[in-house]
Amino acid sequence: MDRPGVFPPGFFERYDDAPDATFYRPPRLVTHIDDAAIATVGRLYADLGLTGDVLDLMSSWISHFTTPPAHLTVLGMNAAELAHNPMATDRVVHDLNVEPTVPFADDAFDAVTCCVSVDYLTRPVEVFADVARVLRPGGLFVCTFSNRCFPTKAVSGWLANDDMGRLAIVRAYFEASGAYAEPTLAHCNPGAPGDPVYAAWAAAWS
Ligand SMILES: C[S@@+](CC[C@H](N)C(=O)[O-])C[C@H]1O[C@@H](n2cnc3c(N)ncnc32)[C@H](O)[C@@H]1O
Repeated sequence: MDRPGVFPPGFFERYDDAPDATFYRPPRLVTHIDDAAIATVGRLYADLGLTGDVLDLMSSWISHFTTPPAHLTVLGMNAAELAHNPMATDRVVHDLNVEPTVPFADDAFDAVTCCVSVDYLTRPVEVFADVARVLRPGGLFVCTFSNRCFPTKAVSGWLANDDMGRLAIVRAYFEASGAYAEPTLAHCNPGAPGDPVYAAWAAAWS
């Protein structure tokens, strides 16, 4: 489904092709973007009205909401990190590169977020399509990213691009999934010192 016509050969290869479970076994109770960037992500979530039943995909010990959603499910690779997430009401360990289908019912969520992690997906189009399945009609999938990553675990197509190219990549994931309205792309903190924040979000069709 991650079509060679859209993404060139080798796009989803990674330097470290060992199972993600190995890389993510040690808990990392750190932040991956600076405090101002975290605040920028939180403002975006608030501006977009992400409340109700929310899924934070590829999550860790911190989700970046200014006000916690009524019900926040966090999905990630490390149980100890997820256990430390104070906003979470449900926690799921699940490897999206092994199984891109998320373990939730259809129409389970009002919104889905994914912060500084989309670059690690090796089967993103399948993941984006399945996220649309678990979103209620019109619900937003909001992907944010900066210019930092674990380079050995990011896909090579991501590493080969600059920030604008990466916005185009996330747009292509939305479009190739066929499951969303036109995505919105944004540089959320132009001119700010520190970590830049870019975002791409779109509403699920149905
Ligand atoms: C850079 S951290 C970002 C964590 C969090 N979203 C944040 O904003 O701080 C990358 C996260 O992606 C998750 N992740 C990486 N590969 C994954 C995979 N194959 N399936 C599910 N989650 C994954 C890891 O558990 C890790 O928490």
